[in-house]
Amino acid sequence: MNMKITVPTESPMASKAFTFGVATASFQIEGAADTRLPCIWDTFCATKGKIRDGSDGKQACEHVKLWKQDIDLIESLGVDAYRLSISWPRVIHQDGSLNQQGVDFYIQLLDELNQRGIKPFVTLYHWDLPQHIEDNGGWLNRETAYLFADYAGKISQALGDRVYSYATFNEPFCSAYLGYEVGIHAPGKASVKDGRQAAHHILLAHGLAMKVLQTNSPNSKNGIVLNFTPCYAATESEADIHATKLADEYMNQWYIKPLFDGCYPDSFASLGDNTPTIEAGDFDIIKQPLDFLGINFYTRAVYTACDDMQYQQIDMPHKPKTDIGWEIYPQAFTDLLTSLNELYPLPEVYITENGAAMADKLENGQVNDQDRVDYYQQHLNAVDVAINQGVNVVGYFAWSLMDNFEWAEGYLKRFGIVYVNYETQERTIKNSGLAYRNLLNARR
Ligand code: NOJ
Repeated sequence: MNMKITVPTESPMASKAFTFGVATASFQIEGAADTRLPCIWDTFCATKGKIRDGSDGKQACEHVKLWKQDIDLIESLGVDAYRLSISWPRVIHQDGSLNQQGVDFYIQLLDELNQRGIKPFVTLYHWDLPQHIEDNGGWLNRETAYLFADYAGKISQALGDRVYSYATFNEPFCSAYLGYEVGIHAPGKASVKDGRQAAHHILLAHGLAMKVLQTNSPNSKNGIVLNFTPCYAATESEADIHATKLADEYMNQWYIKPLFDGCYPDSFASLGDNTPTIEAGDFDIIKQPLDFLGINFYTRAVYTACDDMQYQQIDMPHKPKTDIGWEIYPQAFTDLLTSLNELYPLPEVYITENGAAMADKLENGQVNDQDRVDYYQQHLNAVDVAINQGVNVVGYFAWSLMDNFEWAEGYLKRFGIVYVNYETQERTIKNSGLAYRNLLNARR
């Protein structure tokens, strides 16, 4: 048994110049839903059958109440940075003006982090769209992109120089595809046309907000966070390889290619009736220079050709998986980073999320999550290999600081390196958290 996480001494990751952090998101930890406007996830949670355990985010980890003790916890882990998100419905009133009470919550949080030398990495959109905006069409309405840019402008002005890094969006794929195309996330719409239109408006919103951030907050590192699930062909047959390429375009490249190349992948031409409405000049807005690219990685997907859908994902029954059923395949992490580096002129890369849900048990005040320690070890090794092959990875954030509301899975899946007892709100650092702390403290 190896309860340690290590990196090779000669690795850039062994130096304090490399940023290590932990990540969370507003809806998943904050609670205090009664002190903000309702968002699409409140509505989705209230819809029967959408959340596996029937739960919601009203209480979550009660972070709005316990924020100071949570910062103590973050500091005790020895991290350089903390990635959090701002709840749009907490800081902007329905009439578009700033909600000072909500803003003050984040100001005190950011001040405390900065005082302790922990760099705040702030995401502006981690899925909690105000419900009143959804009622006007949400991401299917082009106007929402402009409302987002307005929010980005107001909040960045209010926060001043407190923010080390802004990400406009977290995982546009999830908001657009899971939320509007297949409907397993809020707002639960399910059509290809909606999914592709939502994606386009989110990318447009990103571009508009980037311009605002570069003006209001030129000293922060401004960028976006994308998730990738690298695609592998089930066999070496030409059909499977072609199917896999299509899947990769549709699930992964769709959200990154417009940022660097100013266009969608080739398969855009086959969308037919599902082609989204795009206005002249949109790609010039979307293709803003980025100070950094955030990459979230968890697993891979394996595809095979099939007649009607062109491609189909297949299960890998005998492969190791995490508690959420995602295959553990660290080689895909290296492959992803090196392939993106070949395809695009990448800026600095931060791994903004990586981690695993495991079936944790709190026993005698301890969580012996050797499986998660192994996951982190294997994935940090994979990042190190990519760095050696020339990918400019400068930081890594563990998902997550603590167990929290895992969207459609409710509280059933635990991703934290800190265990949360939801009855008492007691936090206990898991063995993976202790190993992460030891790794960080051992740096030169
Ligand atoms: C992606 C999301 O950004 C985060 O909110 C989620 O909890 C993790 N991955 C795990 O699914």
